[in-house]
Amino acid sequence: MKRVLVTGAASGIGAQTCVTLRAAGWDVVAADRMPGEGIVALEVTSEENWNAVVANAWPLAALVNCAGVRSRFPIPDMALTEFDRLLHILVSGSFIGIKAFATRAKADGRGGAIVNIASVVSTHAVGGQVHYVAAKAGVAGLTRASAVELATDGIRVNAIAPGVIRTPMTADRLGDPEQLAWLKNRVPMARVGEPSDIADAVEFLLSDRASYITGVVLPVDGGWTAS
Ligand SMILES: NC(=O)c1ccc[n+]([C@@H]2O[C@H](COP(=O)([O-])OP(=O)(O)OC[C@H]3O[C@@H](n4cnc5c(N)ncnc54)[C@H](O)[C@@H]3O)[C@@H](O)[C@H]2O)c1
Repeated sequence: MKRVLVTGAASGIGAQTCVTLRAAGWDVVAADRMPGEGIVALEVTSEENWNAVVANAWPLAALVNCAGVRSRFPIPDMALTEFDRLLHILVSGSFIGIKAFATRAKADGRGGAIVNIASVVSTHAVGGQVHYVAAKAGVAGLTRASAVELATDGIRVNAIAPGVIRTPMTADRLGDPEQLAWLKNRVPMARVGEPSDIADAVEFLLSDRASYITGVVLPVDGGWTAS
């Protein structure tokens, strides 16, 4: 059975990804900074923590970088510490994971597959969260650059760019009728996405059915970025 490490596994998209991948026959190592049953403790901004978790879980065939946070501040109120915090978690946190995975995979002469969770805002900006938009654009660049560099090692690196998905991260916006109406109006399919919409795409990109796909940032957004 092939083993995969999933970060952000305690909630939302990461939790559903664990369920979907287990159903597809993967041996899933679930990791998060929030403790929980069956969850390995991992703070993605700590290289030491990443190295220990990857060493314990090795051999891994795949990695899903799903851990993330979001906040909203207009630019004048955006503290540099908050700007840096998001970039650190979303971009550096994903990079350290790719580094830990690729270092061991290359040393063993093993290939593998990595999926990062980007966002529609990787390409289509929204206001009020300049740090999140910058970070998710960074995740898309990190995905493409890693895919190019690791291609001849047999390590595929792709990303999913979700639209608005019903998780604890979006609960505040989806609980506000005005925001919900705006969001549905923004999406050609006129509905919010579910964590399973993303998890199914992750499962495909990790599978051998995607064996010639690398460096892709795949929108799963009900048509948001097509319009
Ligand atoms: N929900 C959406 O609409 C949406 C849209 C686009 C992208 N995303 C991205 O999808 C990913 C998952 O989001 P979600 O909606 O499931 O959110 P969520 O809040 O439900 O889950 C995020 C998980 O990440 C974990 N986490 C946060 N910071 C961490 C850290 N430093 N180290 C380890 N774990 C950490 C949290 O503990 C939590 O369990 C995030 O990267 C998010 O940016 C979500």
